[in-house]
Amino acid sequence: MPTVDARGHLLTNASTAECAVFEEALAEFQTYTGDPVATIERAIEARPDFLMAHVMRAQLMLTGTEKVLEAEVVRSLDAADRLAKDATDRERRHLGAARAWADGDFELASRRLFDLTIDHPRDALALQVGHLCDFYTGNAGLLRDRIAGALPAWDEGVPGYHALLGMHAFGLEENGDYRRAEESGRQAVDLNPKDAWAIHAVAHVLEMEGRQQDGIDWMATRVADWSENSFFAVHNWWHWALYHLDLGEADKVLQFYDDRIRTARSAVVLDMVDASAMLWRLNLLGLDLGGRWEELAEAWAPHVEDGYYAFNDAHAMMAFVGARRDDLVTALLVRLEVAAAGTGTNAMMSRDVGLPLARALSSFGAGRYEDAVDGLLGLRYVANRFGGSNAQRDLLGWTLVEAALRAEMFALAETLTNQRVAQKSSSLQNWQLVARASIGRGNDRAAATAQDRAKGI
Ligand SMILES: [Fe+2]
Repeated sequence: MPTVDARGHLLTNASTAECAVFEEALAEFQTYTGDPVATIERAIEARPDFLMAHVMRAQLMLTGTEKVLEAEVVRSLDAADRLAKDATDRERRHLGAARAWADGDFELASRRLFDLTIDHPRDALALQVGHLCDFYTGNAGLLRDRIAGALPAWDEGVPGYHALLGMHAFGLEENGDYRRAEESGRQAVDLNPKDAWAIHAVAHVLEMEGRQQDGIDWMATRVADWSENSFFAVHNWWHWALYHLDLGEADKVLQFYDDRIRTARSAVVLDMVDASAMLWRLNLLGLDLGGRWEELAEAWAPHVEDGYYAFNDAHAMMAFVGARRDDLVTALLVRLEVAAAGTGTNAMMSRDVGLPLARALSSFGAGRYEDAVDGLLGLRYVANRFGGSNAQRDLLGWTLVEAALRAEMFALAETLTNQRVAQKSSSLQNWQLVARASIGRGNDRAAATAQDRAKGI
């Protein structure tokens, strides 16, 4: 009798016991808790010829976006390859998608996973790995539609349904469909309160809609659910801190950084991205950040030669610029030029976004604000090509406004600040930017109005 997973897919070379461990790892992955890599390794240990366990191990590592994991990814894929003669068509297609990702072709990986779920819409792993691939490639439409296309095959009776709702919520949110995103995210959390991705999807809605107090309440009332034993906790702390940033509570944000986000010293790249993203925002406010930049730059320094994922490189650049480490700034620019001239998805990302953004950040750090404006003005509308969320990429727009103000390009700054308050009128930072632009334009009345709006937040 062949073993099938909880959604009815055949698993080659697995008994019921290993299948249960596979499900355990999948459930951890779906809620961003525990250590799914360690869990799936238990299955491999018990059954070294369990093909999908090797594939899942590779997929989990790929979604970490770290070059240092590359060798282990290849080791798992090679092990799976050796077992592929006995595999089902579905398993082979999983393997083909993971291999494409490992070879640096994220688009092909995404396409293969999409094709797979046309035939197997209940393949939770294919959907989630595909969803993360969509996130890393900044494909907002597919973040929503990959899940929407499979959803009718799911209902509450299918294990892991919450994860589908949570992913759909995030996809809807990235496409500006905030009402349905919030509805879907809350439904997911009702079904599984520990679904950190669904909690995060609602956090994004509250961020984008500028509902700071709702956001703080949302995070605070379920803090144990998303922060304990979670490998996604730093990013969710980052989201919580963003609400305080919009309320003008920089002291609180610094406290969040020191207590929760600074754990980036553990050198997990995805956490370091959040640390850079938060310190850069605080830097734009002109705060004295003490030795925090130096510490973070040291954590990024071993990654300067990675050339693995341009989104990460851009965040490394923030730390190098912030710490005034000109040696690392130069080294990373050179490495990005090499990456941009290469092949594969990251070459495109480096060419179209990573390198021009890194140059603009470097110009900003060197006080060449007009150059920074030049670099950032058009870039923010194509920056989705190197992945991340709208909330993460907002940093480009904010840096652009700050550069325009410092370059005394007040007419441009006024236009840009108008755009920002139109997007989020509940942000104290945005009104302060309007006020500065208005003062620069000599429009004292507009400045006073903007300052009043800021005070009212
Ligand atoms: Fe996020």
